[in-house]
Amino acid sequence: MTDIDRRRVLGAMVAASAALMLEGTPAAARAARAPAGRDVMTLKKAPMNRIRFGFIGVGMRGHELLRLLLAVDGVEVTAVCDVRAAALEGAASLVEEKTGRKPALLTGSDDAYRGLVDRNDVDAVIIATPWEWHLPMALYSMAAGKETFVEVPAALTQDDCWQLVESSEKHQVNCMMLENCCYGRSELMVLNMVRDGLFGELSHAEGAYIHNLRWILDDREVGEGTWRPQWYTKRKANAYPTHGLGPIAQYMDINRGDRFDMLVSMSSPARSLKTYAKRKFAADDPRSKLDFVLGDMNSSLIQTARGRTILLQHDVSTPRPYNRLNLIQGDRGIFAGYPDRLALDDHGQAEEWITDLRPWQEKYDSPLWRKLDEEATGQGGGHGGMDFVMLWRIVYCLRNGLPLDQNVYDAAAWSVIFDLSEQSARHRSQPRDFVDFTRGVWKSAAPLSISI
Ligand SMILES: NC(=O)c1ccc[n+]([C@@H]2O[C@H](COP(=O)([O-])OP(=O)(O)OC[C@H]3O[C@@H](n4cnc5c(N)ncnc54)[C@H](O)[C@@H]3O)[C@@H](O)[C@H]2O)c1
Repeated sequence: MTDIDRRRVLGAMVAASAALMLEGTPAAARAARAPAGRDVMTLKKAPMNRIRFGFIGVGMRGHELLRLLLAVDGVEVTAVCDVRAAALEGAASLVEEKTGRKPALLTGSDDAYRGLVDRNDVDAVIIATPWEWHLPMALYSMAAGKETFVEVPAALTQDDCWQLVESSEKHQVNCMMLENCCYGRSELMVLNMVRDGLFGELSHAEGAYIHNLRWILDDREVGEGTWRPQWYTKRKANAYPTHGLGPIAQYMDINRGDRFDMLVSMSSPARSLKTYAKRKFAADDPRSKLDFVLGDMNSSLIQTARGRTILLQHDVSTPRPYNRLNLIQGDRGIFAGYPDRLALDDHGQAEEWITDLRPWQEKYDSPLWRKLDEEATGQGGGHGGMDFVMLWRIVYCLRNGLPLDQNVYDAAAWSVIFDLSEQSARHRSQPRDFVDFTRGVWKSAAPLSISI
């Protein structure tokens, strides 16, 4: 971490802890801010024939997104920025290998990304940097009129979220958070099931990010281990809410017929990372001395304006096997993930899950996946193909002048849980209200369906 990085992280952390002093959600914090321009719920841009992308941050995630995007038709990668020479070289060789052309390379300072954004040959910007950089980079990109794509979580505080919303409205550009889990084959199938009414009237959902990521502590020179554990020493929160929540929010028409209303949250003790560090590293290793506050498990309960409930969990510390829960239930049926299964009221009284889903897969499989299956899975990696499907779909929407599937209101409503869960967990689970980032537009916005 550079000094500037460190100062930015500290600044963001101080802002977050100021919010923790609040008792209850004060009216000012709940109030919607004045619109900065037309709403961008279904922002449509003129169709773009070729999209010229610039990448900021080509570490582990950015490199993977770059590799996959280069396999999508109608795309050029004209510029890449990273503060690390090795990452930049790796990205440049990838582009050259695939296209025969070298992208412009921007580096040399923490603010070199501005040079990338300012280029005339960049239409769209992908930001895959450590969390504290998402906001300044996305704001700069939107102010320059670039279609902006930012990794998860898009922002870290409620105020950050408002800034993203205001900027997208003011400049009438897209600000999409790259929530790839919305493009999983199961998730898109479930969205079709929900739209078809298979589960009846929805009442409850469960989502999670349960992923044994203790190994990132092993990274000392490069990678997430150099920055992410620092957050775990400061934030007692659901620090990565969007993977489990994004698909559920789409099933439940959040921001398009319903919205998150309030949340309560509770964190368990933080033990597991310390135990791991003690086992792996010498007693005088700085990682053995880290004092983690992020609970091993954070559980939040969200209630929507229509009274529906969502359980959302976060555990990146324990050896518990991977799970995003992906459960949605209505008055006629339930789908649950990990493993995928169904319970439907017209399937007798059996108290067991239906695990042979073939008839339903046949009927509800996503047309996107039917079309892209071989291409998506043939790329290898990319979280089983969903990353490629997401990137393909973004390019399809931009080339056809269609609204993107996720807008800035989604980025804000899904990311703000980082902040709200902490405020609640630190205050004996007091309820925290969500602000309405759409300022009422959710009431009339049409439900989302994702197809081609
Ligand atoms: N959607 C997913 O499935 C998924 C998976 C992994 C990571 N992520 C997200 O992707 C982002 C990046 O994570 P990662 O695993 O690639 O981390 P990483 O540390 O491997 O890569 C981050 C890169 O950003 C560069 N960087 C840092 N500051 C910069 C600056 N000022 N200008 C330009 N480059 C800068 C670093 O040098 C590094 O190469 C994070 O937000 C993370 O949450 C998402």
